[in-house]
Amino acid sequence: MLIAQISDTHIGVPGALAYGRVDVSRMLIDCVRHVCRLDPRPDLLLVTGDLVDRGIPDEYAHFRELLAPLQMPVRVIAGNHDEREALREAFIGDGYLPSSGFLHYVLDEYPLRVIGLDTLVPGSGRGELCAERLEWLDATLSAKPHAPTLVALHHPPFDTGIAYMDRLGLTGREAYADLIEAHPQVRATLCGHLHRHIVSAIGNRPAITAPSPAHQVALNFDADAPGCFSMEPPGFLLHRWDGKHLTSHAVSIGNFAGPYPFRR
Ligand SMILES: [Fe+2]
Ligand SMILES: [Fe+2]
Repeated sequence: MLIAQISDTHIGVPGALAYGRVDVSRMLIDCVRHVCRLDPRPDLLLVTGDLVDRGIPDEYAHFRELLAPLQMPVRVIAGNHDEREALREAFIGDGYLPSSGFLHYVLDEYPLRVIGLDTLVPGSGRGELCAERLEWLDATLSAKPHAPTLVALHHPPFDTGIAYMDRLGLTGREAYADLIEAHPQVRATLCGHLHRHIVSAIGNRPAITAPSPAHQVALNFDADAPGCFSMEPPGFLLHRWDGKHLTSHAVSIGNFAGPYPFRR
């Protein structure tokens, strides 16, 4: 099974540039083209939050339009730039989101079970796994203890060293790590929010953030550095499940020379 993970597309209304500078629509079109050219095609495209920039219905409509060429199921989770009810309204027709409450869901139809978690705190950049959300996750994991599982959430449950982003981090991460530790069927935690490809470990399992198909968060370990983005190469992740092992590939989006055979 192949899962493409894209994250933090920050789509605006048609013609809008993110931060007055980033042509996010153009960059998502390039990403979608890249995913469509993959052979074999992914079985699923997972979007790990910050689909749009301001959380308004017109932005979600534009996002859906830009993803329309993808001939594969698309499943989304909410990020801090998303608005819960506008997102629900835009995607409820696809049949996997609940009609009220947190935007959690489970995909049970694949060889790898996928759980989407809602870490959204309305009006805030940070994320939260409160007692209610953790209880839902525990019950959901307990229901199928032998099914290999991925958990996807927008805010990573670990600090990255990029202080500006760590200040917009996840509350409830300790309890989350304990929960993952207690459920050995979880193979990895997939996240967004950081606009960079970062690998850590939570509950002794990999925890991975995806790069953005648009702008990246600038890499700076200075604790006082202001929040900045950079136009480093855009990308997405491709997770391959062979029935036993999960292997995650970072894919750069762009037109690159090759492939060339090693033997001439
Ligand atoms: Fe983002
Ligand atoms: Fe975010």
